[in-house]
Amino acid sequence: MELPPLLRRAVDNALNGTALSDLAATAAALSDRYREERHDIKPRVISDREALAYLAVRLPATYAAIRSSSNAVAEARPDFMPGNALDVGAGPGTALWAAAECWPAVSEALLVEASPIFRTYAERLAAEAELPHVTWRVADIAVDAIDSKPRDLVTMAYVLNELAPKARHSILQQLWQLTADTLVIVEPGTPAGWQRIIAARNQLIEAGAQVIAPCPHARACPLQPPDWCHFAQRIARSRVHRQTKRADVPWEDEKFSHVAVSRKPAARVRARVIARPRKADGHITLKLCRPDGLMDNQSFSRREARSPSVPGAPTGARRYECSLAVEPPL
Ligand SMILES: C[S@@+](CC[C@H](N)C(=O)[O-])C[C@H]1O[C@@H](n2cnc3c(N)ncnc32)[C@H](O)[C@@H]1O
Repeated sequence: MELPPLLRRAVDNALNGTALSDLAATAAALSDRYREERHDIKPRVISDREALAYLAVRLPATYAAIRSSSNAVAEARPDFMPGNALDVGAGPGTALWAAAECWPAVSEALLVEASPIFRTYAERLAAEAELPHVTWRVADIAVDAIDSKPRDLVTMAYVLNELAPKARHSILQQLWQLTADTLVIVEPGTPAGWQRIIAARNQLIEAGAQVIAPCPHARACPLQPPDWCHFAQRIARSRVHRQTKRADVPWEDEKFSHVAVSRKPAARVRARVIARPRKADGHITLKLCRPDGLMDNQSFSRREARSPSVPGAPTGARRYECSLAVEPPL
C-alpha cells in the first residue's frame, strides 16, 4: 500500500524546509512512545516539531491501518456508502483521507481534535486535495461532549490509548449514539491495544451494535492471551519517511487491532483468516475465526488452496480467502 499521491505531496510540502535529520530524534521518541504504550491522562500539548515528526513517520503507518480497516468494512458491507463522517482524535486528519479514498461519496465531515497544532496541519494537508467539505473542532473529548449530528461513518483511530480508562466508556457511548450506520475503532496491534478493542467491542455489542469486522460473530473472542488478534498492513516508505526514520528498508508493516460495528448486519461469511497463512511441506495452514465463535486451524494442500474446484476439496482455502476481510496479520 502507498499513501495517496496527493497526501504524499501534501506531507512533503508540509515538511519542506525542515531539516529531516533534526526531526529524527523527535520521530524516534514518538515511535518509542507509541511502542511502549505510554499514555497520558490529559491530551498532550503537541509541539510543532512533534506534529512534523508525526507527519513524516506515524501518519503513513496509521493511514495504512485505517485504510486496511476501511477495506475490511467495505468488504463486509458492500452496500455501505457513507455520505458524511465524524472522526475524533483526528490528529492531522489521517482517517478522513483513508475514508475519502475508500468511500468517494463522503462529502462532508467533522473532525474533532484536542491539539490546535494538529488541526493547523490537518487543514494544510486537506487544502492540497479535493477533500470533502470539512469542519474542524478543537475540543477535549474527555471533558467536552462531542457536539455533532449523527453521521454515517464514525471513526476513532489510535486514540483510546490516549484516554484515561474511565473516560473511554462514556466516549464510546457518545460515539455509538452519533453513529448513523458504522463505527470503526483502530488501535495499535499490541496485546494491550487488543484488550482495549475487546473492551470496546463488548460495550458496543451490549449497546445493540452488530459486529461487522474483523470478527464474523458477536460472541466472545475465542483468542486467549498470550495470543491476540492483530493484523498488519505493509506501507511503502517515502524518501522523507526513510530519512526521518534513518531506515533503509523501503517499507514497513504497521500492526493494528480494530473493530467495526454497525446498525446493519454484515453479509454472513464462512470464516475469516486471522493470521498470516503458514506454509510447510506442501501445505498451507489457515488460522480461522468462525461464525460459531470458535477458532480453528485448517490445513490444505497447495493444490486445494489454489483450486477451489478440486473434486473432494469442498473446503479449499480459496473459499476462506474469498472472505478474508483484511490483510492477514503477521
Ligand atoms: C496517535 S494520534 C492519532 C491521530 C489520528 N487519528 C491518526 O490515526 O493518525 C492521537 C490523537 O488523539 C488526540 N487526542 C488525545 N486525547 C484527546 C482528547 N481527550 N480529546 C481530543 N483529542 C484527543 C491527540 O491530540 C492526537 O491527535
